[in-house]
Amino acid sequence: MLRFAVVGNPVSHSKSPLIHSLFARQVGIELQYTREQVSGDRFDDFVQTFFATGGSGLNITVPFKEQAYRLTAVHSERAGQARAVNTLYQDQQQRLCGDNTDGIGLVRDLTVNHRIPIGNRRLLIMGAGGAVRGALGSLAGQAPESITVINRTVEKARVLADEFSALTAIQALSFEDPLDGPFDLVINGTSSGLHGDLPPLSPIAIGPATCCYDMMYGNEPTAFLKWTAQQGAASNLDGLGMLVEQAAESFQLWLQVRPETGSVIQQVRTSLG
Ligand code: ATR
Repeated sequence: MLRFAVVGNPVSHSKSPLIHSLFARQVGIELQYTREQVSGDRFDDFVQTFFATGGSGLNITVPFKEQAYRLTAVHSERAGQARAVNTLYQDQQQRLCGDNTDGIGLVRDLTVNHRIPIGNRRLLIMGAGGAVRGALGSLAGQAPESITVINRTVEKARVLADEFSALTAIQALSFEDPLDGPFDLVINGTSSGLHGDLPPLSPIAIGPATCCYDMMYGNEPTAFLKWTAQQGAASNLDGLGMLVEQAAESFQLWLQVRPETGSVIQQVRTSLG
């Protein structure tokens, strides 16, 4: 049987086994997809052994996406921009190949599922860690009017703005800097929600036409989305669709068939309780 897994630490919360088993059932492919929690010093060995013993593909989650990128012999352009991979497989010469489907997952959830355009729009994205680095190339590829990256540690936002400045009009700000009116799309890519915290964003960023998106999700609206709803944003969307869309891209890379995602998003939402 085809073998797949998600590798992370911790990984017990991962919805990837559920998502990929729903995809597999939908397209009539039999596969096994497990969760694998490994320690940092065992990660490289785990990956090598997995493929040496006939494994077909791995998803990589926190905190191993950068480590996995460094292991790859071949990687996609978007993985190179992110310097991180969430998808591993072997090519016909048994070389370890890496891709990063997080950014395209976000773009597909916004533009296809929610019909929110990005082209010619003013984007604000909060955070400057791996999640934002993974998204910027795909967002830039939609030709927004501008991208403003805001981070608590502004130096990290500046590094990202420099790196992506050849692809898009991009600027770095701190949360204290004055903002130039409401944005069209505000994305939370910080990990503040893990602790139930809010990023300290000025309400000026949000107007009645602003779409707000949190890369996090849960069984109730995140702290950020509760706040954006109070500010009167046009829409307040969580990252569950991004999760399912990045999984669909991985599934397609591995198995050359694209699953339908709408029903899977609904089923995963139901499983959150
Ligand atoms: P990830 O891979 O999920 O992006 P990360 O690389 O650790 O995780 O980055 C976490 C991001 O969330 C960072 O941008 C961090 O800001 P700093 O760079 O200043 O540390 C941001 N973050 C975490 N908690 C936050 C909070 N309470 N308020 C604002 N930003 C926060």
